[in-house]
Amino acid sequence: MATDKGNESLWGGRFGEATDRFVQRFTASVDFDQRMAAQDIRGSLAHAEMLRDVGVLSDEEFAAIEKGLATVQAEITAGTFPWSIEREDVHMNIEARLTALIGDAGKKLHTGRSRNDQVATDIRLYLRDASDTIDTELRRLQRGLVDLAEDHAATVMPGFTHLQGAQPVTFGHHLLAWNEMLERDRGRLQDCRKRMNQSPLGAAALAGTTFPIDRQQTARLLDFTAPTRNSLDSVSDRDFAIEFTAFAALLLTHLSRMSEELVLWTSAQFRFIDLPDRFCTGSSIMPQKKNPDVPELVRGKTGRVNGHLIALLTLMKSQPLAYNKDNQEDKEPLFDCVDTVLDCLRAFADMVPHIEPEIERMREAARAGFATATDLADYLVRRGLPFRDAHEVVGKAVALGVETGLDLAEMDLDTLRGFSSLIDADVFEVLTVEGSVAARNHLGGTAPTQVRLAVKAARQRLVESNEESP
Ligand code: ARG
Repeated sequence: MATDKGNESLWGGRFGEATDRFVQRFTASVDFDQRMAAQDIRGSLAHAEMLRDVGVLSDEEFAAIEKGLATVQAEITAGTFPWSIEREDVHMNIEARLTALIGDAGKKLHTGRSRNDQVATDIRLYLRDASDTIDTELRRLQRGLVDLAEDHAATVMPGFTHLQGAQPVTFGHHLLAWNEMLERDRGRLQDCRKRMNQSPLGAAALAGTTFPIDRQQTARLLDFTAPTRNSLDSVSDRDFAIEFTAFAALLLTHLSRMSEELVLWTSAQFRFIDLPDRFCTGSSIMPQKKNPDVPELVRGKTGRVNGHLIALLTLMKSQPLAYNKDNQEDKEPLFDCVDTVLDCLRAFADMVPHIEPEIERMREAARAGFATATDLADYLVRRGLPFRDAHEVVGKAVALGVETGLDLAEMDLDTLRGFSSLIDADVFEVLTVEGSVAARNHLGGTAPTQVRLAVKAARQRLVESNEESP
């Protein structure tokens, strides 16, 4: 078969023929890794400055590189940069353009480094920036949840187990449960960021370099906390990408669970909340429909992020040390995770402050299904009946309720006393849904007083973690 020859490449020296056109396209990553251009330039500047300080580059050469890279950045920003698949990836595109702009000094930039440590550095820088944007968006969503929880500290809704009405809870308490999930997610992101925030620059291809480089300096210039410790590990490690993707998968799992509840709650059967029209879409055939597309789509996006986690784990599982071209496959899943997480967080952060609970409807639903049965049992226990006996007594009262269609609070005192003479008129205080939630007044409980305290504490943590954030 005839080989369709590509143009001359940067490694032309050793090769007798040009790269096959298909192979060129197959091995190229520039279409997707150009989004790391700003990080690549930043890394190159730090490397060049260090090379000057250790005497490998002259002052003039460094000045030319600095100026040339500024031009490259300006071209990229303006959209005039001549990206070329023949230069394979973002690194070689930028280096080639730099050399075209400034001549020989551009050819010296790659002294003492390899694309292997370069790409490892770029992804860490990129992901670190992305993590900080994600953290900001996560906090915006948390603030929305906490504010809404405060507004609805005393709004009663049914709490569910097995999706069967179980006991009344407050809407604020439910929203703060979501906030707990997100707070753990933020913790995981920060933790992952710590290990990500180390500089692999200087590992070169795999074994380090013969030049007298200063890895502490480049780490410092790039705001990394320290250089990585082992050159082989530095160019091959993608744990940080897997950790980030695992964070993303768990975050999306949480957003998906929230979405599932929003979808249920907006249905005509639940009618617990209303979402503004701008977050919903209609049906092309059924005129009455208002579909919760945004939460549904977030729920759906969880699948692709989970897929990316498996993709990265599988990508790494059999790779020998050190760098392998396989690693080029880390980028698309990773970038898609970043985009998906940011989109989903934005959708939620925009939507949450506008969730409107149908307060009366929620309260009615909380009253249904003998939701205060446990409260009646607890009442009897406080009057001396052992809990198991109380459980039995209340079970009989519920059976009568099922038969007559009356809730416990709707039965008259005589009827209730028929089940136990320990019952007095004050029983009706515990049989209301408000009495039920107010009675669960302890740390982590659903009582409005506790929800207000929890809101305060959550807000405090948000402020503190913001101050600690890098
Ligand atoms: N485009 C490559 C990647 O994304 C850069 C490193 C290539 N190094 C190499 N020796 N082929 O991983």
